[in-house]
Amino acid sequence: MASFLVLNGPNLNLLGTRQPEVYGSTTLDDIEQVCRTFAHDRGHSIVFQQSNHEGALVDAIHDARGVHAGIALNAGAYTHTSVALMDAVLSSMVPTVELHLSNVHAREEFRHRSYLAKAAIGVICGFGSASYTLALQALMDHTKAGHD
Ligand code: DQA
Repeated sequence: MASFLVLNGPNLNLLGTRQPEVYGSTTLDDIEQVCRTFAHDRGHSIVFQQSNHEGALVDAIHDARGVHAGIALNAGAYTHTSVALMDAVLSSMVPTVELHLSNVHAREEFRHRSYLAKAAIGVICGFGSASYTLALQALMDHTKAGHD
């Protein structure tokens, strides 16, 4: 049994009402329940967190070291701007999958750049809330393969 951190960045607390034409009508609570069941059915557990603050996200990544086998990280807009989050992932050395609900590559050009991708073991985007379980599956496979 392993524990995984599902970490959410700014504005994701508003999922369900936030630009539903882009992000759908699923709330972050709904996503948490799906992630919890998905992990539990596979004999694992999750901790699910959200913050609108960059420093709090850095702290959560640091605190994952030695506690979680991996991080599924939807850093929201910080994906495209934050060297600090990239450095936190590199420093924590916890395998991290970058994920997005939307296909960021089909959207505005500024969303095409990801600092996190340089530090992540992989990136999943464009599958709506299923991006979360796909990221967890990737982390479980990675952990099982003994990469960490
Ligand atoms: C997002 C994509 C980001 O570009 C955006 O800033 C978000 C959500 C997604 O899940 O599709 O806040 O990470």
